[in-house]
Amino acid sequence: MAKKFVITLVNRKGGVSKTTSTAYMAMCLHQAGKKVFGVDADADKSLVKWSEAVSFPFPVVHVAKDNLVDMVEGMEGYIVIDTPPNDGEIIYAAAGIADEVIVPISGTGLDVNRLATTLSAIAHVEKMRQKPLASILLTRWRDNVTIGKEVLEMLVDKDLPVIDQRIRLLTRYEGFILPQYLEEYEAVLKELEVI
Ligand SMILES: Nc1ncnc2c1ncn2[C@@H]1O[C@H](COP(=O)(O)OP(=O)(O)OP(=O)(O)O)[C@@H](O)[C@H]1O
Ligand SMILES: [Mg+2]
Repeated sequence: MAKKFVITLVNRKGGVSKTTSTAYMAMCLHQAGKKVFGVDADADKSLVKWSEAVSFPFPVVHVAKDNLVDMVEGMEGYIVIDTPPNDGEIIYAAAGIADEVIVPISGTGLDVNRLATTLSAIAHVEKMRQKPLASILLTRWRDNVTIGKEVLEMLVDKDLPVIDQRIRLLTRYEGFILPQYLEEYEAVLKELEVI
């Protein structure tokens, strides 16, 4: 394995499961025997607070936006980065150092404009780095809810891979509890060939 593998969760839209996905994926990697770091790049420190509340079995560090690139540079192992909503700059920074950029989108309350700006920032980074980085993860999924037509068109237009495995809207994912039902996120990581 390479010395370092960086996964980053981004979407300018809030409440789409960035922090939840970060915690669950980090936990899956930990369970798979990998050396894992959670990196909380959100000023509200939601990942740090969650990890302190229930004692995650892997370290979670908070980093100020301006230090993200330098801090991750010095780390080894699997690094999963949670980012804040409404911050265009951090998408460039986090995608610039990532091996996988996961864009969670939630079946309800989609925000086409913020998704569009998120995707175009990633597209810039992909162009600079000359490699595809992004995948779309459907979160808070309910079978009776369909993705908006505008969003689907945008995903098709940008030719972005949508991860087959969806994360259902389930009470198990709510609140500050130690992530334990890992099968959906494990399937995501397997589909991306990370584990
Ligand atoms: N699959 C799910 N099923 C049910 N509840 C979920 C699911 N994923 C996340 N949640 C809940 O939805 C809320 C928002 O999730 P989360 O904090 O992970 O989103 P976020 O994208 O990090 O938000 P923000 O942009 O504010 O940082 C939380 O209360 C979380 O517990
Ligand atoms: Mg969050």
